[in-house]
Amino acid sequence: MRIGNHGLCRRLPDQKFRMAAAAANPLMSVSKMKALIFLCIGLTAFLIAATAAAFFAILALHHLHRPMASSIIPASAAAAWKGYTILINTWKRNDLLRESVLHYSRCDRVESIRIIWSEPDPPSHSLRHALSEAVDLNSKVGGNVELVFDLNQEDSLNNRFKDIEDLKSDAVFSVDDDVIFPCESVDLAFTVWRSAPETMVGFVPRMHWLNSPLQKSNSDYYFYGKWWSVWWTGTYSMVLSKAAFLHKKYLHLYTNQMPQSIRTYVTQNRNCEDIAMAFLVANETGAPPIWVKGRIREIGSTGISSLGSHGEARTRCINDFAAVYGHMPLALTNVKAVDGRSSWLW
Ligand SMILES: *[C@@H]1O[C@H](CO)[C@@H](O)[C@H](O)[C@H]1NC(C)=O
Repeated sequence: MRIGNHGLCRRLPDQKFRMAAAAANPLMSVSKMKALIFLCIGLTAFLIAATAAAFFAILALHHLHRPMASSIIPASAAAAWKGYTILINTWKRNDLLRESVLHYSRCDRVESIRIIWSEPDPPSHSLRHALSEAVDLNSKVGGNVELVFDLNQEDSLNNRFKDIEDLKSDAVFSVDDDVIFPCESVDLAFTVWRSAPETMVGFVPRMHWLNSPLQKSNSDYYFYGKWWSVWWTGTYSMVLSKAAFLHKKYLHLYTNQMPQSIRTYVTQNRNCEDIAMAFLVANETGAPPIWVKGRIREIGSTGISSLGSHGEARTRCINDFAAVYGHMPLALTNVKAVDGRSSWLW
């Protein structure tokens, strides 16, 4: 056994290694062992480099040849796919309304745009004219988008879910006038909704928390979880109607069958019509909503949701509504729907 100038501290493991190697293959010399180890390291490095190269090549190809939605859906199926109605809730922000109408009238599957108008004065002639002109200009050839103002005498947040008798499509995209989603995002949400037309499908998830089980208390108390709790836990139980698809039957149920006390509560508190709708759909389906990934563009100030007390008011709504229902209908989930073409890494 040779003892080199390795130093005392390394001698022992070195010897053990050589003895083990010698025991396994007495013919294999130390230099051969070293060569083998270097070969292994070299191969691993090569494999990593090759994988990385393939990875970037696929990425480049993917961006070059990413198929467009229209080229993937067979023409006949596309024609059979019915469109949706956009239900825009607006209040005294004509410039935002104009921008929204201009944008959504460009989306392929929009059949009709309904504007929920709750101001004392009816929309001016010039606004009506400007909007219908914008819609006519933008609608795709052959598909004329209908533009309707739904005028309301009373100023109530319940107006946004009023039963609409002559609604053509089953699908309703409920949206505020201060957020804009690209047509591809809305189309994706519509596709998801068609797979689950009973549920709410939207872009703005929120959650409810139950008071901690460590806290001893006689009754359940819930908290409203804003976007950061959804971000932190990856969990949600509502999608807000500021940007969500829902079946038109829920407008009927909201207006005619939901307990009157909840509608009164919404009018008096000027808040929580979206939570009321989330409760209604959850109680009907016994299932959570679906969150769809979408790019959001805020075009106006965020209104009351930026006020500090907003969370407390929403927490009160959740507990008061749960008391009316006699139980908590909201169900938690972690599912998020994404466009398979933009998430190519499985
Ligand atoms: C909740 O759903 C149940 C079962 O479908 C129904 O009987 C009940 O009336 C609903 N509750 C409310 C408050 O709508």
